[in-house]
Amino acid sequence: MIGNDIVDLAIARKESNWKRKGFLDKVFTKKEQLLITNAENSEIMVWNLWSRKEAAYKIYNRQTLFRGYFPLQLECCDLEIIDGITFGKVCIKHQVYFTKTEITTQFINTIAVENVKDFNDIKTVENRKNIQKIAGIPSFFEKETSALRPLSISHHGRFEQIITI
Ligand SMILES: CC(C)(COP(=O)(O)OP(=O)(O)OC[C@H]1O[C@@H](n2cnc3c(N)ncnc32)[C@H](O)[C@@H]1OP(=O)(O)O)[C@@H](O)C(=O)NCCC(=O)NCCS
Repeated sequence: MIGNDIVDLAIARKESNWKRKGFLDKVFTKKEQLLITNAENSEIMVWNLWSRKEAAYKIYNRQTLFRGYFPLQLECCDLEIIDGITFGKVCIKHQVYFTKTEITTQFINTIAVENVKDFNDIKTVENRKNIQKIAGIPSFFEKETSALRPLSISHHGRFEQIITI
């Protein structure tokens, strides 16, 4: 199972004022707010945590079919930087998802997986030709086997990423 999320930082800056009253309390747990407060760059930490939660939500939703907006139930933890890539986990109820986040000056991109070894098998999909959606959730239709493989789409502003496994 996989999920992804991409944040165009230029759009985020223009359209979302993360400093507005009440925003952090609505979206981030107390522990996450501490990470934001203590970060060298609080704005980047906001969108880093946001994109992890959204990517993890896409797996959670696929697995459980629970839909909704419940950012405080998705909690990021165990952030660790290895060779410039930020790894971490997102927990919701008894589920734990692993996340890998690329942070550039232009975008923040998270891929979430259910099993950490799945990071090695992520492939980028170049077009939407073989994508099928069931109840709004996209999958990759593999012609040879007629099987549906997990797929995740994210787009924001200038960026789009489609991945499968
Ligand atoms: C559905 C949701 C995940 C979409 O995320 P988004 O950042 O608005 O948009 P993205 O571009 O990243 O993702 C959109 C794509 O996700 C796919 N998608 C839509 N619903 C989905 C779902 N429930 N599960 C998996 N993928 C989904 C679609 O393919 C869609 O692209 P398309 O319509 O062009 O085919 C988001 O709007 C949402 O409801 N989040 C709730 C979770 C939450 O509590 N978030 C808090 C933020 S911290």
